[in-house]
Amino acid sequence: MRKILVTGALGQIGSELVMLLREKYGNENVVATNRSKKEGHDELYNSGPFELLDIRDKEKTVELVEKYEINTIINLAAILSAVGEARPQDCWDINMNGLYNMLEIAREKEIMLFTPSSIAAFGPSTPKEKTPQDTIQRPSTMYGVTKVAGEILCDYYYQRFGTDTRGVRFPGLISYETLPGGGTTDYAVHIYYEAIKNKKYTSFIAPGTKMDMMYMPDALEAIVDLMEADGDKLVHRNAFNITAMSFTPEEIAASIKKFIPEFEIDYEVDPVRQAIADSWPDSLDDTCAREEWGFNPKYDLDKMTEDMLNKLREKLK
Ligand code: NAD
Ligand code: SER
Repeated sequence: MRKILVTGALGQIGSELVMLLREKYGNENVVATNRSKKEGHDELYNSGPFELLDIRDKEKTVELVEKYEINTIINLAAILSAVGEARPQDCWDINMNGLYNMLEIAREKEIMLFTPSSIAAFGPSTPKEKTPQDTIQRPSTMYGVTKVAGEILCDYYYQRFGTDTRGVRFPGLISYETLPGGGTTDYAVHIYYEAIKNKKYTSFIAPGTKMDMMYMPDALEAIVDLMEADGDKLVHRNAFNITAMSFTPEEIAASIKKFIPEFEIDYEVDPVRQAIADSWPDSLDDTCAREEWGFNPKYDLDKMTEDMLNKLREKLK
């Protein structure tokens, strides 16, 4: 039986993942943790265990692992790309020292550890189109540096100690439950909220900028599928390229227009986030994930747009 501890559980991914895992593995078997409590997560607080945990606190993490007899950690606590450029020292501290603690605990207690990487692990010298699984990785952001270092560190723990580490390189994730926490792909979430509220969106990302994206249900399924995959069949383990779609701001706007014909987009480009976006791939090659553990996303751009708009109409009523 899995006993799972999720860090950063009140974030964009964690807030939905915890509820899915509780449905799958039982409410009491999924311990949600976060550095601080936040409003708007009553269902998560009331449906199973919740504990305050800063991932830089190894002692407290060990205490919780022992208290709940944890055998799987999903480490989602992190600082993302845009906040990472505003606070690079914090980004290194949390993303690296926090991950190192989780790896050491996973090694000592023989725990499975899932840690997401990102398209941010690539940089300007990476091939932009159909970016291969194994390729040049020289990112130009602190967030990207921590993601590459994290991928390598997780591989090291598997190769050196046999720790069961696993992970994917997520593209930008689009969802309606919890707002994203300060990334570059956040525009592709905000645009749907503004489409419902004002039928208009001012994009901080310039027209023509392509980035990989995925709808949250596919991302959550990817986490569960990779965790449940036969470890012997995994060649890459910690940094699988995965993607569901790749689009520019004008392409997502055109998709929204199919459902809200009056919708308009204009642009006020933020140079910091634009530079980050320009340094990332246009489209990933996710063949290895498909072949090694059967990754198979269900949502394309229009299917996601239809569902996002329907869900947000309900939410924002
Ligand atoms: P998020 O910013 O929405 O949530 C992160 C959570 O971690 C927040 O609730 C925050 O309070 C918490 N946190 C921050 N510092 C902490 C600390 N020191 N200890 C404990 N908790 C702390 O992030 P997310 O979008 O849910 O991302 C989760 C993971 O997935 C990250 O590793 C991120 O890099 C990766 N990822 C996300 C995306 C995306 O589009 N959301 C894309 C690629 C990769
Ligand atoms: N969505 C994330 C970001 O923009 C990608 O890792 O930072």
